[in-house]
Amino acid sequence: MAIKRQLLELRCEMTITSYPPISRYKTADELLSYAKELGISLPFDEDVRSAPESAMAQQYLLPDGRIIGNRFCIQPMEGWDATADGKPSQLTIRRWRNFGRSGAKLIWGGEATAVRPDGRANPNQLMILDETMADIEDLRQALVDEHKTRYASTDDLLIGLQLTHSGRFCRPNEKTRLEPKILYHHPLLDPIFNTPVDYPVMTDMEIDDLIGEYIRAAKRAQKVGFEFVDVKHCHGYLGHEFLSAVDRPGSYGGSFENRTRFLREIVAGIRSECPGLRIGVRVSIFDLPPFRPDENNIGKMLEYRDENGHYPYAFGGDPDCPGQIKLDEPIALLDLLQKIGTELVNFSAGSPYYNPHITRPAHYPPSDGYLPPEDPLIGVARHIKVAAELTKHARHLATVGSAYTYLQDWLPNVAHAVVRSGMIDFVALGRMVLSYPEMPADILAGKPLARKRICRTFSDCTTGPRKGMVSGCYPLDEFYKLRPEALVIKESKKVNISL
Ligand SMILES: Cc1cc2nc3c(=O)[nH]c(=O)nc-3n(C[C@H](O)[C@H](O)[C@H](O)COP(=O)(O)O)c2cc1C
Ligand code: SF4
Repeated sequence: MAIKRQLLELRCEMTITSYPPISRYKTADELLSYAKELGISLPFDEDVRSAPESAMAQQYLLPDGRIIGNRFCIQPMEGWDATADGKPSQLTIRRWRNFGRSGAKLIWGGEATAVRPDGRANPNQLMILDETMADIEDLRQALVDEHKTRYASTDDLLIGLQLTHSGRFCRPNEKTRLEPKILYHHPLLDPIFNTPVDYPVMTDMEIDDLIGEYIRAAKRAQKVGFEFVDVKHCHGYLGHEFLSAVDRPGSYGGSFENRTRFLREIVAGIRSECPGLRIGVRVSIFDLPPFRPDENNIGKMLEYRDENGHYPYAFGGDPDCPGQIKLDEPIALLDLLQKIGTELVNFSAGSPYYNPHITRPAHYPPSDGYLPPEDPLIGVARHIKVAAELTKHARHLATVGSAYTYLQDWLPNVAHAVVRSGMIDFVALGRMVLSYPEMPADILAGKPLARKRICRTFSDCTTGPRKGMVSGCYPLDEFYKLRPEALVIKESKKVNISL
């Protein structure tokens, strides 16, 4: 019995991160001196004002005169809960209502919405097709209605739709079966995701067709009331893969010009077919090579160098020093986005499939992840620093920053500081909106935070879908706590640590 207990404890240690949870730091001084110890600087305002003085309550004016009512944004957060024909379910509608009740005035995309069936990341992803338009119109309206009920005005609420094709990570028919569409053979991702060496890459003609589908999808989005579309270029999905297609021959690979052709042609098509529709791009503005768990389950960066000694497959990464960031191409991309007249950019990073600690800093990894190889606070600070540097190069774009949820109780202080000092235009909430949708409204009203609802980055909202279930905040949202999936996740954690 004693041995069993010891072994159990040992196994538990291996599954629990060694970094202190951020909730341990009870005062600003404690937090800031810990950040100093880590060698990071964290923008921080001790005095978080409420509206109307708060920096977060300032309006934002787009160049065309459209007002966005405050500086909170809701990230796209999919739920793996659409119907098999790509329509919203009751769970989808509930999530979008929560986006509306958050009080944030910029809704970035709602959630990933596939432009065609074989481009879905899972069989329950939303699709924007002729057959789903009416339902997606109702979904958007549900968000607007909820917002109106609570905040009266919706004139200053800007809602976009995130258009996606999942590329290498398509699973359109079965939750566990990848049916990838790849742009090039990746020396590390191919073996990790079992892509055969002779697997066909998308042809230039297939890409030309897909561009047409994006433009048709944008037209539908505009027709059902969205005021912008996001031409998604993040997280390892197809748009993002174009940016690193350095080895691809033909019109869509090789030079920076070719690697951005997909984006430019979609933008040009939307401009001519959808007058008045604004365009945003959510982009993984830097990337690192893939990480895998080491023998202690801690994330370790994989090594690869080509014949020139480079790792050229991380957009925004330094090819000479894999794992380091180099912003030349991201800055060139921002120049391009401004030249072609897009209005908004949302800075994300990495991919939840191959380096999740970069995309979503978390204390507890999801079931397919690994223990963080760095304090998650370092990951948050990296996002903030890069986004601030890039915002200097994006004066004609509304900029949105990601990965603030890990800050937890300190999110209001950091959000206030980054917006007040012009480091970013909007602070966006991802996981936090699942556990505590009203956080932006509470901050703006100067209310104390509802501590029991603050996302503690347990990652169950990712573990659920990784195990074939719908997403949701199972630990903290009373609604999801009562669903049968909550028990399955709880039990699966027990199995992980039982002998
Ligand atoms: C359950 C879940 C669903 C997500 N869905 C999307 C999505 O549909 N589109 C997208 O661009 N990012 C998606 N993300 C990433 C988030 O938008 C966000 O970038 C990430 O969670 C980091 O922000 P946070 O620290 O505020 O959570 C998702 C993340 C989670 C955990
Ligand atoms: S399950 Fe809830 S607490 Fe955990 S990361 Fe997701 S939103 Fe946060």
